[in-house]
Amino acid sequence: MIPPEQPWVLARAALSRAAARWIVDTLSDRLKSAGHACLVPSAGRTPLATYAVLRDRYRDAIDWRRVHLVQMDEYKGLAPDDPRSFADYLRRHLVEPLGVGAFTHFNGADGRLLRSPAAYERDLPPLDLVVHGIGRNGHIGFNEPGAAFTSATRPVRLSPSTLGANFVLDADRQACAMGVTLGLRCLLAARQSLLLAWGVEKADALRRALCDTPSSRCPASGLRLTGRLMVMADPDAARLCIPVAADSAGNSGTPKWEYHAGAHFD
Ligand code: GLP
Repeated sequence: MIPPEQPWVLARAALSRAAARWIVDTLSDRLKSAGHACLVPSAGRTPLATYAVLRDRYRDAIDWRRVHLVQMDEYKGLAPDDPRSFADYLRRHLVEPLGVGAFTHFNGADGRLLRSPAAYERDLPPLDLVVHGIGRNGHIGFNEPGAAFTSATRPVRLSPSTLGANFVLDADRQACAMGVTLGLRCLLAARQSLLLAWGVEKADALRRALCDTPSSRCPASGLRLTGRLMVMADPDAARLCIPVAADSAGNSGTPKWEYHAGAHFD
């Protein structure tokens, strides 16, 4: 495992390698103790390089057949083979190349939900590891600002900020204006969470997530209430905040971050 004294702010290539290693170590620990592991990976752009490292370096590091991959969020109306869908993304980048044993996703071939959001959440195994990106407005999954930390898995209307970040074409923004997401109560109950952020466009969201008092105004801030959060950010995303090392006793709890305008990292 990455020791707590290791810096959490790394250049992107190093960050992607560190994140992949940390994911594999976390899953490996769980496989050893429980015999199986449940992974909930973001389907955003941020972890793409991390997933490439998983495929290139760690394909044979663990028994991926004992990993159950659960979809975190999806657009309403998209079939799992639609290239805009998160199910298609997860299948291409993780499920098929790694040989993951089980894949739970939201939509069926007709684009409709395979089961109600309540049933989807009820039937999930305990979530061992969630890999998060962060929206520019602080969303995680499709839990947009205003979502309660106790919110259930549910259909959601996506914000203009989220649609603008995720689609170039107006037609896609209109077609994909509704989504479905694991609720915050479910995501925040995960055994471990990894939050990845890079790029200056994420700096303010990361500052609000890590430095402000946790509030539904910034759903990602709820991750700090779990006490099981690893944050990895590049210097651009972390330019408004700095990590404060874990305590000298070596406890590996969630590191604290402080607001620090213009933080500099080597
Ligand atoms: C998207 C997804 C999230 C993702 C986040 C960041 O809208 N719903 O699951 O983690 O926003 O995405 P990206 O990494 O592409 O910036």
